[in-house]
Amino acid sequence: MRKKIVAGNWKMNKTQDEGLKLTSEIVNMVGDEVTGDVTVILAPPFVHLAQVGRLIAGADHLFLSGQNCNDHAGGAYTGEVSAAMLKSVGADYVIIGHSERREYFQETDAQLAKKVDLALENGLAPIFCCGESLETRENDDYIAFVCQQLKESLFHLPAADLSKIVIAYEPIWAIGTGRTASSEQAQEMHAALRKYIAAQYGEELAENLSILYGGSAKPANAPELFACADVDGGLIGGASLQSRDFVDIVKSF
Ligand code: 13P
Repeated sequence: MRKKIVAGNWKMNKTQDEGLKLTSEIVNMVGDEVTGDVTVILAPPFVHLAQVGRLIAGADHLFLSGQNCNDHAGGAYTGEVSAAMLKSVGADYVIIGHSERREYFQETDAQLAKKVDLALENGLAPIFCCGESLETRENDDYIAFVCQQLKESLFHLPAADLSKIVIAYEPIWAIGTGRTASSEQAQEMHAALRKYIAAQYGEELAENLSILYGGSAKPANAPELFACADVDGGLIGGASLQSRDFVDIVKSF
């Protein structure tokens, strides 16, 4: 059985007070309202990780994630944060390869492969993001494009490591645009990615891998998306900044 996961990527939002208030609200609502077997991950900005981690420690369902890590183990990289540091403040996950990092910080597939390795070496599960631009979507080869992203950054891994990855399919044209992929579009891509992984690593591993959808997911569309056979949850941006919306998404399975 693969894990059902809802992860909130706060991106560069929330001051400390705001972030801790949001976390407390989520802890209370999840505690009161979430009964099923769902993993809820919070990915606040680096500076809030330790405190958010303290607030969620011991709470059922809740886990901590970084939004990024550096592709070096440590050293003279001013302003950067390593996978080991994330682990040391209580993170169990790290988002790697978000399209905003690929685009604004020119992160390459090869760099992402190194980040994936460092995350795994430090006991973090990568939430590996992939997804195509609108331009690519309008060509016929959008599935091949996203498969290639997986191949370039993940397929060097042995099966035991690959099985620890969470995939997040985030079509760039749906991120922050209000334009969600339809459930048919999400299902098509998720099924194709699972098949591609199965061809390389076998059916069993692929069947057990969680593949999340991200891009303008909200309480109104999450139930339909999560009902798709190959959609195992969501990576949520904007709607993760409101406790009520986020927890309603968590309850959408
Ligand atoms: P939105 O939910 O704001 O579209 O963002 C999705 C995303 O990029 C999550 O990582």
